[in-house]
Amino acid sequence: MNKISAAITCVSGYVPEYRLTNKVLETMVDTNDEWIKSRTGIEERRILKGEGLGSSDMAVHVVNDILKKRGIKAEEIDCLVCATVTPDRIFPATGNIICGKTGLVNAFSYDIEAACSGFLFSLTTATALVESGRYKKVLVIGVDKMSSIVDYSDRTTCILFGDGAGGVLLEPNEEGLGIQDSILKTDGSGERFLNMKAGGSVKPPSVESVMAKEHYIFQEGQTVFKFAVKGMADVSYELMQKNNLTADDIAWLVPHQANLRIIDATANRMDLPKEKVMININKYGNTTNATIPLCLWEWEPRLKKGDNIILAAFGGGFTWGATLIKWAY
Ligand code: UT7
Repeated sequence: MNKISAAITCVSGYVPEYRLTNKVLETMVDTNDEWIKSRTGIEERRILKGEGLGSSDMAVHVVNDILKKRGIKAEEIDCLVCATVTPDRIFPATGNIICGKTGLVNAFSYDIEAACSGFLFSLTTATALVESGRYKKVLVIGVDKMSSIVDYSDRTTCILFGDGAGGVLLEPNEEGLGIQDSILKTDGSGERFLNMKAGGSVKPPSVESVMAKEHYIFQEGQTVFKFAVKGMADVSYELMQKNNLTADDIAWLVPHQANLRIIDATANRMDLPKEKVMININKYGNTTNATIPLCLWEWEPRLKKGDNIILAAFGGGFTWGATLIKWAY
């Protein structure tokens, strides 16, 4: 019997309607369209508006669309892995809430928190579930309502982030297609450069922590930038070397969308022309766990069976990694 691999068999994405443009941000903080575009590549981002709506509400669109596109019933899903840094609540897991809202009554589910690399870490975990032969249909969802943790009076962070959701269905494949390899890394010394200061067990929420604005994203942008450029480029190159691939063998690079300059550095290191790089940061900004599946969703009609695709990410933790896929349909 052929070895079972885990293949992506369906992709979907969802972004909320409201567009927060650079022009609007100019009215909120001391910034300008030219600075934002030249330093980050971002023109606008989507924001989830509406009282009582959270990450799970965006993910529901993704799950329902995958079930419809693939022509399967909610009961057939065995597991849902949700990557997020903006869970609906600290607990229960947002994955559980998504299953409840979409009728995935036979699935077990949980969240994975690896900041902007969460989708890749989740994909690797879900791949192992499918490769084990025990699970046939596993959903991997990347979702973030970044607007819920962004300080819209801080110009160094509020220009960067947007809300969105994306996801893939993993199924067994006996042709050797699907997820081939991944290299994932963590460096805990990155904690101090990108974090949320309060709200966890070290510093539970208090009147003081709210007054000190400690429930928002804190980032030392320049330091994170330096680590990200090196980390994402090096790991993507390492994965190519490990799998004996040259730039000609690679159909697409799917980079985490944090900054156009980080994406360009990664593509350069891999010697890939721009035409092979998925970029939609201009429209959505950094949606953290949703960036990679949102790209796959947008480019899905152009992907061909057998295409070698490298996914790459870098994020808080620090966490980073790259995954090699042979597209299965
Ligand atoms: O996805 C998770 C991982 N995160 C990342 O990968 C993000 C990595 N970091 C970055 O993408 C970049 O560091 C930023 C986009 C956050 C900042 O770009 P930068 O080129 O590193 O700018 P900077 O922080 O060095 O700031 C340059 C100047 C400063 O002014 P002075 O000191 O030179 O006078 C800032 O105060 O730009 C100023 N500045 C702004 N000006 C206009 C900072 N933010 C803004 C702004 N509008 N929004």
